[in-house]
Amino acid sequence: MKIAIIGSGYVGLVSGTCLADFGHDVVCVDKDEAKIANLLAGVMPIYEPGLAELVAANVKAERLSFSSSLAASIQGAQVVFIAVGTPARRGDGHADLSYVKAVAHEIAANIKSPTVVVTKSTVPVGTGDEIERILAASGTPVACSVVSNPEFLREGAAIGDFKRPDRIVIGAEDEWARNVMTEVYRPLFLNKAPILFTSRRSAELIKYASNAFLATKITFINEMADLCEKVRANVQDVARGMGLDNRIGTKFLHAGPGYGGSCFPKDTLALLKTAEEFSSPVRLVEAVVNVNETRKRAMGRKVIEALGGSARDKRVAILGLTFKPNTDDMRDAPSIAIIQTLLDAGADVVAYDPEGMEAAARLMPDVTMATNVYDAIEAADAIVLVTEWDAFRALDFGRIHDRAKAPVLIDLRNVYDPAQAREAGIIYTSVGRP
Ligand code: UDX
Repeated sequence: MKIAIIGSGYVGLVSGTCLADFGHDVVCVDKDEAKIANLLAGVMPIYEPGLAELVAANVKAERLSFSSSLAASIQGAQVVFIAVGTPARRGDGHADLSYVKAVAHEIAANIKSPTVVVTKSTVPVGTGDEIERILAASGTPVACSVVSNPEFLREGAAIGDFKRPDRIVIGAEDEWARNVMTEVYRPLFLNKAPILFTSRRSAELIKYASNAFLATKITFINEMADLCEKVRANVQDVARGMGLDNRIGTKFLHAGPGYGGSCFPKDTLALLKTAEEFSSPVRLVEAVVNVNETRKRAMGRKVIEALGGSARDKRVAILGLTFKPNTDDMRDAPSIAIIQTLLDAGADVVAYDPEGMEAAARLMPDVTMATNVYDAIEAADAIVLVTEWDAFRALDFGRIHDRAKAPVLIDLRNVYDPAQAREAGIIYTSVGRP
C-alpha cells in the first residue's frame, strides 16, 4: 500500500518508518528542506533509540523515501497521514491547528485519486469535521474520507510502542475508510494488537482523555508523596500496595518532580479548552494542571531547604535536564522551572545531561553545562537528580565525597536506596520516602 506521511517530526517519522518496516511503500514529507536533506543523508532530526538504524534499513529496501513536495508525494497514495505539530497556542493554551489546516488545504488542492486522510496529530474534537469541510469546500471531485487515528507513542520507546501497541484506535465514519485502515495495520494484527473502531469524535477524545488520565495518575501519586513525607510513610510502598489492585495497576505511579514533555502539558490544557468551549468543565484535570505547575517550583524550594534555607552563591549540580530519559526533548521539562527557582534564589547552576544539553543551553544560557557527571558535581554544595537516566543509577558515592564540597544529594526520582546513601555518608533527600 502506498502511504504518504505529512510532517516528519517525532510522530510522523516514527510512524512512517515503522509502516515501511511492515512492508508498506511510505514517503515521509516535510516542508523543511534542510530536514529532508538531512534525512536523505541519514541524519535524524531527533534522538530516538533504534530509529536511525530502522530508517537506514527501510531506505535501503526502497520502502521508505523522503520528500519536501506534498503535491508530488500524495499522488497515488491510498492513505495520507497528517502528522504535523499542534503546539499550545500562545495566550490561550488551545491547540494551534494552523499547520493541520494548511496541510488539509494543500491536500485538497492536489488530490487526484480516492484517498483516506488520517489525522495522527493530536487534534481537538471536531477537527476531523473541519478537515472534511476544507476538502469539500475545495470542490475536488475526488472521493476522500477523513479518519482519526491517534498515536500513543512514548518518546524513548516509540518504535516498540508502534510495533507492539496496547491498542490501535480508528475513528472512521464509513466502511471504506475502516477497510483501508484495517489494511494499513494488518501486519500488527499478527501481534494481537486490539483494534478499536469508533466514531471520529470519540477517537479524537480518546487521545486527550488517555493523556489527561495518565497525568492525573502521576499527579495523584505526587501529592501522596508529599503526604508520605509528613506522616512518615514510604510512597513507593504505598504505590505498590495500591498498584497490585488490578483495577489501579502499578504503572505511572512513580512520584517525581511533576510531569513534562511534549504531550501531557499541552494536551491537558487543550482538553480544558475544549471542555470550556462546550460548557462541560473537567475540574479534576484543572486541578491536575495547577498542582503539576506548582510542583515544579516546589521542587526547587525543596533543594533550597536541603541547602539549609538559602541558595545564595551556592553551587548546585543538576543531573538530567530532559523531561525524561532516552530523549533529547526539553519541552516542558521540570528541570527548567526547578533551575529557574534556584537561579532566582542566587544559586550557581551546573548541569549535565547525556542528550539534552544542546537544547537546554539555548533555553537556559545562565546554566553552565558540564562535560560529564563528575565534572558537574565538582565543588557542588548540592547535587540534584532530576532525570533518571540509566547512566546516573550507579553513581559513585565515594567520588561525591571526593569531588563535591558537601555530600548533599536530592534525588527527585527515588533512584537510590536511602539506607545505602546514608551509610555512604551522603546527606540524602528523596521524594515521599522517610
Ligand atoms: C506520553 C504518553 O505516555 C504517550 O502515550 C503519548 O502519546 C504522549 O505522551 P511521553 O510524553 O513520551 O508520552 O512520556 P511518558 O513516558 O508518558 O512521561 C511523561 C512525563 O510523566 C515525564 O515527565 C515523566 O517523567 C513523567 N512520569 C511518568 C512520572 O513522573 N511518573 C510516572 O510514573 C510516569
